[in-house]
Amino acid sequence: MRFLRALGVSLSVLGVRALNSTYDYIVVGGGPSGIITASRFAEAGKKVLLLERGVGPTVATGANDTLGWNHTLTAIDLPGLSADVGNLDAWNEYICSDVAGTAACVLGGGVTVNYMVFVYPQDRDFDDKWPRGWKAADVKGASERLYARNAGSIQPSADGKRYDQGLYKVLSGFFGKLGWKSVDMIAAPNEKHNVFSYPAWNIKDQVRAGPVRTYLPEAKERKNFSLRLRAKVNRVVREGSRVTGVEIVDELRNRTEIVRLSASGRVVLAAGALSTPRLLFNSGIGPDAQIETAKKSGVAVPPREEWISLPVGVGVKDHPIFSINVNTTGSYAPLDYDSILDGSDSDIELYRNGSGPLTMGKHRMIFFTSNSVNGHTRFYQGSCAPAGQGVVSITAYMTHGLSSSGVLGLDEKGNTVFEKSPYLQTADDVTAATMFIDEMVDAITDPSTGFELQTYTNTSAILGSLTAGIHYTSTAKMGTDDGRYNGTSVVDTNTKVYGMDNLYVVDGSIHPDLPTGNIQATIMVVAEAAAAKILAH
Ligand SMILES: Cc1cc2nc3c(=O)[nH]c(=O)nc-3n(C[C@H](O)[C@H](O)[C@H](O)COP(=O)(O)OP(=O)(O)OC[C@H]3O[C@@H](n4cnc5c(N)ncnc54)[C@H](O)[C@@H]3O)c2cc1C
Ligand SMILES: *[C@@H]1O[C@H](CO)[C@@H](O)[C@H](O)[C@H]1NC(C)=O
Ligand SMILES: *[C@@H]1O[C@H](CO)[C@@H](O)[C@H](O)[C@H]1NC(C)=O
Ligand SMILES: *[C@@H]1O[C@H](CO)[C@@H](O)[C@H](O)[C@H]1NC(C)=O
Ligand SMILES: *[C@@H]1O[C@H](CO)[C@@H](O)[C@H](O)[C@H]1NC(C)=O
Ligand SMILES: *[C@@H]1O[C@H](CO)[C@@H](O)[C@H](O)[C@H]1NC(C)=O
Ligand SMILES: *[C@@H]1O[C@H](CO)[C@@H](O)[C@H](O)[C@H]1NC(C)=O
Ligand SMILES: *[C@@H]1O[C@H](CO)[C@@H](O)[C@H](O)[C@H]1NC(C)=O
Ligand SMILES: *[C@@H]1O[C@H](CO)[C@@H](O)[C@H](O)[C@H]1NC(C)=O
Ligand SMILES: *[C@@H]1O[C@H](CO)[C@@H](O)[C@H](O)[C@H]1NC(C)=O
Repeated sequence: MRFLRALGVSLSVLGVRALNSTYDYIVVGGGPSGIITASRFAEAGKKVLLLERGVGPTVATGANDTLGWNHTLTAIDLPGLSADVGNLDAWNEYICSDVAGTAACVLGGGVTVNYMVFVYPQDRDFDDKWPRGWKAADVKGASERLYARNAGSIQPSADGKRYDQGLYKVLSGFFGKLGWKSVDMIAAPNEKHNVFSYPAWNIKDQVRAGPVRTYLPEAKERKNFSLRLRAKVNRVVREGSRVTGVEIVDELRNRTEIVRLSASGRVVLAAGALSTPRLLFNSGIGPDAQIETAKKSGVAVPPREEWISLPVGVGVKDHPIFSINVNTTGSYAPLDYDSILDGSDSDIELYRNGSGPLTMGKHRMIFFTSNSVNGHTRFYQGSCAPAGQGVVSITAYMTHGLSSSGVLGLDEKGNTVFEKSPYLQTADDVTAATMFIDEMVDAITDPSTGFELQTYTNTSAILGSLTAGIHYTSTAKMGTDDGRYNGTSVVDTNTKVYGMDNLYVVDGSIHPDLPTGNIQATIMVVAEAAAAKILAH
């Protein structure tokens, strides 16, 4: 107590307010991984503080920018507007301005603004490269716990009908002729070669689902759980290998504070794969050069003798996206977002009954395939959405099995930056991507289809259309080869940072490998599994 008071005095001299409450768990970041782990800690009877730098995106979490025709819903909630999310006012408010790629700085993280595609991981996503204790069989219980609360849906309309199926009709005919198989991607997650499916979306009760709706309300009911919004964490406060608290900026009051852990407390980082590395650098954990930069950016990093040399940021991965746009001459078009927003859209009446196209996400079909180069298999996902009258935009990702990675670092303004791009860094990745696109181009341009490529009209142009998949991982990789001793791993298989006693990471940063599909379901499965490991450890 004397010590705490002494600390309080010295901190207040520095203009930093020290608070009295202490917590068993401080979870940093209210994205999917943070909400899920914090909820499970609270359920286990722990005193938990969840710190989120952004605002709440739903009416229940404080948003007031509701739709004119339904004052319990924001635009973010409505599945039918998810395709237009980048044009909403909320986008500018919610997107992080200080990271190397696209990430959301709002409660719910990426799951608040994403396109809702919800891909159950196939077994080999875990079995190929995750360490022992994290194979598909090991995380089965975690996936069951997730799906019990947040199952995703392939049929979100309450009347059991599928709407706006023009695109599906044309493309299922196309793939059918190629000999590909129709599957239910939720019921058969291991079918990932030459298959197509109706899309699975993160939708429940006709609104965008995700942990803000499926975990947080129950956690908030618990006395020992608190959520603080607009609380941006700068760094963890260390006494050597122990974390004693976190330094935050209260963005409403523009005030710096220290929030303390209880004597046996733990800090769990869940700021996302592009932000957690900054928290580690700022806390004296990572390559020396990055910690030096953190110091230059004005952060009170620990003294040099306390730095822990770990390969944070090294090996960052993402799915590259290639754009394949095709005029199919089919009959379909994107929804009319302006009329949905202003309330004049004729589908709104049906939505009031829980049905119709506004209950669906933007895609109309998802396909998967794989190929092999030098005996090594790589997977591909194609997400197909209407882009114009009869025109489909295929977002084609190279996914599980790709061998490229990059390096994430920090600049002197405190932004995370790519020091080396994660995309197409190996010759085999380039060969494999080229093979896949060549085959797609050949099939699409076969005269029997009547299809026509648009914008990118040959393989090299499609390869050149590369954009970020926004499924970043592996910036604080989990594994048994301790990074302090020339290994590649930053956290152990309990998700604890090597060299620290009570610091954990649970977000996309720790994934040692990329999954076969869009990553959010995998992020949530891993968070469920991590919460159980941390509580048991
Ligand atoms: C535009 C977009 C589209 C996407 N589309 C899809 C899709 O259709 N399907 C799919 O499966 N995946 C998609 N993704 C990816 C998916 O949403 C992310 O992989 C997932 O949200 C990552 O979860 P996370 O918990 O690791 O981190 P995040 O979701 O990034 O959450 C991190 C949280 O921490 C908070 N935070 C960060 N720094 C601090 C700090 N210093 N202090 C306090 N809080 C902090 C952030 O505000 C955020 O709430 C998309 C992502 C984006 C951005
Ligand atoms: C913290 O505790 C001290 C003494 O225990 C008390 O004087 C002070 O008001 C408390 N501060 C806050 C912010 O609760
Ligand atoms: C709340 O947390 C405190 C501190 O860990 C614990 O002693 C208490 O039992 C918890 N209460 C509940 C209702 O879980
Ligand atoms: C809506 O919320 C914003 C930000 O949270 C706030 O500035 C604004 O005053 C609120 N508007 C109303 C009408 O409550
Ligand atoms: C608004 O939408 C929600 C979710 O679909 C629904 O439960 C509610 O009844 C709607 N309210 C109105 C006034 O239509
Ligand atoms: C926040 O406080 C700092 C000083 O602590 C000051 O330099 C800065 O201008 C303030 N920002 C705002 C938005 O008030
Ligand atoms: C698609 O093709 C049809 C005829 O094949 C043509 O009339 C139409 O203009 C094309 N659409 C676009 C957007 O190019
Ligand atoms: C909505 O449901 C009501 C009651 O079942 C029905 O009368 C009405 O026609 C439905 N609206 C639409 C647009 O289907
Ligand atoms: C591919 O398309 C691009 C852009 O349309 C064009 O510049 C290039 O010459 C084409 N390459 C081949 C091999 O046809
Ligand atoms: C790391 O590897 C280098 C060269 O292989 C070796 O010189 C060094 O001693 C190793 N360091 C540790 C900590 O194992």
